[in-house]
Amino acid sequence: MCGIVGYIGNKDVLPILMDGLKRLEYRGYDSAGVAILDEGKIKVIKQVGKIAALETELNGNSTSGKMGIAHTRWATHGEPNQVNAHPHTDESGNIILVHNGIIENYNALKKMLVSKGHTFHTDTDTETVAHLISEFFQNGTSFEEAFRAALNEIDGTYGIAMITKHEPEKIYCARKGSPLVIGVGEGENFVASDASAIIAHTRNVIYLEDGEIAIISREGFVTKTIDNKTVTKRIEKISFDLERIEKAGYPHFMLKEIHEQPDTVADAMRGRLIEEEGVAKLGGLTPILHNVLRARKIFITACGTSYHAGLVGEYMLEQYCRVPVEVEYASEFRYRDPIIEDDNLVVVITQSGETADTLAALREAKRKGTTVMGLVNVVGSSIARETHGGTYIHAGPEIGVASTKAFTSQVAALTLLTLMIARTKAMSAEEGRSIVKEMKTLPEKVAQALKTDETVKKIAEEFKEKRNFLYLGRGYNYPVALEGALKLKEISYIHAEGYPAAEMKHGPIALIDEDMPVVVIATRDSTYEKIVSNIEEVKARKGRVIAVVSEGDDKLDKLVDYTIPIPMTRDLLQPIISIIPLQLLAYHIAVLRGCDVDQPRNLAKSVTVE
Ligand code: F6R
Repeated sequence: MCGIVGYIGNKDVLPILMDGLKRLEYRGYDSAGVAILDEGKIKVIKQVGKIAALETELNGNSTSGKMGIAHTRWATHGEPNQVNAHPHTDESGNIILVHNGIIENYNALKKMLVSKGHTFHTDTDTETVAHLISEFFQNGTSFEEAFRAALNEIDGTYGIAMITKHEPEKIYCARKGSPLVIGVGEGENFVASDASAIIAHTRNVIYLEDGEIAIISREGFVTKTIDNKTVTKRIEKISFDLERIEKAGYPHFMLKEIHEQPDTVADAMRGRLIEEEGVAKLGGLTPILHNVLRARKIFITACGTSYHAGLVGEYMLEQYCRVPVEVEYASEFRYRDPIIEDDNLVVVITQSGETADTLAALREAKRKGTTVMGLVNVVGSSIARETHGGTYIHAGPEIGVASTKAFTSQVAALTLLTLMIARTKAMSAEEGRSIVKEMKTLPEKVAQALKTDETVKKIAEEFKEKRNFLYLGRGYNYPVALEGALKLKEISYIHAEGYPAAEMKHGPIALIDEDMPVVVIATRDSTYEKIVSNIEEVKARKGRVIAVVSEGDDKLDKLVDYTIPIPMTRDLLQPIISIIPLQLLAYHIAVLRGCDVDQPRNLAKSVTVE
């Protein structure tokens, strides 16, 4: 949520900041702004709306300079307008900063600052920080001391980049709960909330930890804690290529990412399957292997799409490992004081690795003394670093706000985990080999499922004006129904609900009439006959049924309005295939309705506020 990029070096800063902002736009896009320091003067330009609006605003401005900071905003405090757009300044205009996160005690701080004569111009929590630094600076301390003293007063979360006329050769950065990465160049350095903003310039980065600050200059950087203890940071290499964060000819990132899935599913499994032994190997779990294999209960905690993957995980872990599993939204888990024993395992699932609720749930689980493993996409993210051990899903950067490829990779990784645990328990080598063999066919089957695109587009055309959709599934396809409904509502703004199919008759059936499209995942699995009965119930009430069916199954052709045939696989792997036409359906409906698929209203990638 929100994006930060900053640069200090010898190049013209504006193109670097604008390029960084465009790469970060998926994180927030209600307003944007830049602050550039040139010959002792700071110029601030802000605009409401997308980066393109800021670009237009900048066209009429001759702005040059070799250092600056920029921000793209997802509003929390104060409506999205030009005044509330970052950067924000203190009274004198000498201290200018951009901020991600939430200053929870900003009201109290503002009151105190107003009583000391500060005048505020925005409705944001961020402005408080600029005034607070200037307040401490007035007391005769060094600028760095004032910066650290101000941070010590703040409750809440922040990723901050700040420039000041008082020290025009430095960018001050700080992190608590909101990611910041420092890009290390030659004669130039960068700061960003997300490595994708700076990867065009450098692959060498350091990740700040909570409670750390960095002061960067052209020549280098200093890192310390906010209590002034120097910390030595390791320079790490970003492993993904620039092409992976570009659209590669697709009209939207979401469509590109949907089509990447044959590769990303293969990448999630690459080098991790041992076919002869019918087992999976996950190197990142080595330090906690004993606790993973012997856990007497597993909690899975996550948000949104990752939570839905967790539900699929619950079904497979319980079925094959015979270990009780509880799946819970991270926002609930973190506050409800769950009963966690020492011999339990907590699995946190997250694409971004930065989701505030998931991070807090992870910390809560660690506080209770249990082992926490991560299933994470973004390498080096906060959650990846804070877990005791974990598995990267290797889906590559996911830019589309609606999560697609992360889901299939998460389910693939959960299957690996299941295999690994189950083979130390009751699962035979033969059964393990059979699952491994089937897993190896998944990339091809995903590619096959993508061929439903034309059929799905026609269905989208017919149903695009409907106001409500119901999604039904049973067993492993129940979480797929939830995920399909989430995809539709978040990018097309059509109300959609996912239900376990049999639950329909306990309420939602009242909604069904000829105007209600019902998407049913009715692949040939152990629940097939039951779901056919549920379809009959919908048709008896004149509902319109779109059924995702197994290739070669023509039994439903006469009963339903549309069928979307997809390849069959084993029950536990089916979600990886079944979700594909539902992602495509949501995509095409949204495009046909003229929605901005990659930047749906009110949403942002990576929810770093609670
Ligand atoms: C839905 C979506 C969100 C995320 C959720 C968790 O398409 O993108 O529901 O799944 O915000 O995000 P991560 O997985 O980054 O923790």
